[in-house]
Amino acid sequence: MTPKERIEKLREELHQHNYNYYVLNAPVISDMEFDFQLRELQDLEQQYPEYKDENSPTMRVGSDLNKNFTQVAHKYPMLSLGNTYSEAEITDFYDRTKRALNNDFEICCELKYDGTSIALTYENGKLIRAVTRGDGEKGDDVTDNVKTIRSIPLVLHGDNYPQSFEIRGEILLPWNVFEELNKEREAREEPLFANPRNAASGTLKLQNSAVVASRKLDAYLYYLLGDNLPCEGHFENLQEARKWGFKVPDTMRKCSSPAEIFEYINYWDVERKNLPVATDGIVLKVNNLLQQKNLGFTAKSPRWAIAYKFQAERALTRLNKVTYQVGRTGAVTPVANLEPVQLSGTVVKRASLHNADIIENLDLHIGDMVYVEKGGEIIPKITGVDMDARGFMLGEKVKFMTHCPECATELIRYPGEAAHYCPNETGCPPQIKAKMEHFISRRAMNIDGMGPETIDMFYRLGMVKNSADLYELTASDIKGLDRMGERSAENIINGINGSKEVPFERVIFALGIRFVGETVAKKLARSFANIDELAQANLERLTSVDEIGDKIAQSIITYFSNKMNCELVERLKAAGLQMQRSQEEEDSYSDKLAGMSVVISGVFTQHSRDEYKTMIEKHGGKNVGSISSKTSFILAGDNMGPSKLEKAQKLGVRIMNEEEFLALLA
Ligand code: IVH
Repeated sequence: MTPKERIEKLREELHQHNYNYYVLNAPVISDMEFDFQLRELQDLEQQYPEYKDENSPTMRVGSDLNKNFTQVAHKYPMLSLGNTYSEAEITDFYDRTKRALNNDFEICCELKYDGTSIALTYENGKLIRAVTRGDGEKGDDVTDNVKTIRSIPLVLHGDNYPQSFEIRGEILLPWNVFEELNKEREAREEPLFANPRNAASGTLKLQNSAVVASRKLDAYLYYLLGDNLPCEGHFENLQEARKWGFKVPDTMRKCSSPAEIFEYINYWDVERKNLPVATDGIVLKVNNLLQQKNLGFTAKSPRWAIAYKFQAERALTRLNKVTYQVGRTGAVTPVANLEPVQLSGTVVKRASLHNADIIENLDLHIGDMVYVEKGGEIIPKITGVDMDARGFMLGEKVKFMTHCPECATELIRYPGEAAHYCPNETGCPPQIKAKMEHFISRRAMNIDGMGPETIDMFYRLGMVKNSADLYELTASDIKGLDRMGERSAENIINGINGSKEVPFERVIFALGIRFVGETVAKKLARSFANIDELAQANLERLTSVDEIGDKIAQSIITYFSNKMNCELVERLKAAGLQMQRSQEEEDSYSDKLAGMSVVISGVFTQHSRDEYKTMIEKHGGKNVGSISSKTSFILAGDNMGPSKLEKAQKLGVRIMNEEEFLALLA
């Protein structure tokens, strides 16, 4: 493989791993492997600058920008830290620093907290702003949410704080709160948070700060920035900050030799398990601020600091067999059945194997001794095989199932997808049951009194085979079944009848069309007046809906080209479900903007950009990205970009402000 090919391969893989991790929340490699690959790519890119690519995974600082929050530029960019897993590199860092400074220096050792970072600005002793890291240059203003965190002082104590300064730290959800939260979510059938980090960042981005307040977030501060800080050392400044009311960890320690640093690392690698919050490493910082300044920064991180990541806790155990689970969409997930083993305080018996490629890459055989890791995730994963333990008795190679374990239909694999599917949508029991479970769930039809066990029982007894059958049940069918009295039977029937009032968009979601989640269902309900219009739409019509691409459109077409699905929809319609937009919704539609292309630009005060986008669509217009001679008009807020303004004037396109636009629709 040439260096160019290797670079391209690494980029492609890392992009996929990024997606698996951040979007799907289902990483298939360990963080350490990811960092190794990223490092290899960084090295190669440095060695071969001719293959530079602005969109390489190495260019990512990561972004958590959210369109619903106001974005604020950071006064000092929020950089990340260089990562290492090896003690040798700590020694290298130490020696490098020593050479560069050519003077005595101290290293401040701290725990690396695994939450979501925050920058707090104080002026005259008052918290005035809290901003997330965002893309490092600008972040989201989450001040209202941060103010609910009890350990963050709104007003400072003492009198020696600078008139204006910034303090940074990590927002965390303590382990016990995380577990409690997930228990509640499980009870409400809401998706679980994979780890406290995701839970913390998700909570911080909630729109309702009262809910944030109920979540009991915590914050640890570890970095003070400003012009008139009280002391010359980082450690000393933080001790002052503690007196002002900040929660500064008392686990920091100043070290003067690599030996002392290793002692700190080894101590905390064990002791961190007793901390109330998640940590994933140690951060080393040159303590003296002047020395920090002299060492400076590279493009991405300070030269005066480095992070050492702990090896994720792992256990070695035997793979007994591989079983397969079939989900609602027919996706088949392989599950490793393990010899029970103790790992980070719990007994692990099963681990996810994700898909056929992972099994192949691991070259897994039954009886293999495998490494299991939890690394802050709920579901443990297999990260490797102990090849030395194999000996003569090599077990059978794990071959992915060819036929569905539940209904024996041959599995298929769609091009470009990692998962195998059982295509027998209407005849495969777990798929049928899961579809009905989805249908009755809270976010869909919200049928009170029923849960997965009820569905399972009704299905086993042959009472229901699809969601339309539910509407034909009577109280006397149910009464007298296992643990079903008159009251429960009536509850269920009332719940079923009540679901007939559930709005159209949730009915679309409840159908369980592949790739049609809540957001897509809303968009569809906005764009199609009723189910028949949706069922008859072709690819072009479907993809004209904002954010609906070929993949979703094709899935909708496939759904409605299946006769069984059409019959089901007809029966649901006959049962009285909302298969069209409500009158109220309908009244908010018009064709005032029919055939018009509208460009949105600038910052608005009365509605958000998204709201304007929706309004344009509801009135028959189309929101487009760039100005051309075909643009009907520009909806302009404050600070419209100068190049856009120039272009509009050149092409003679009308510029409309918010008031004019709202008057037009009124
Ligand atoms: S100092 C320029 N100290 O790790 C140095 N960061 O990769 C700024 N983190 O984004 C960071 N514990 O979210 C620092 N004791 C600690 C930390 C810490 C956790 C996080 C932080 C940062 C990331 C760096």
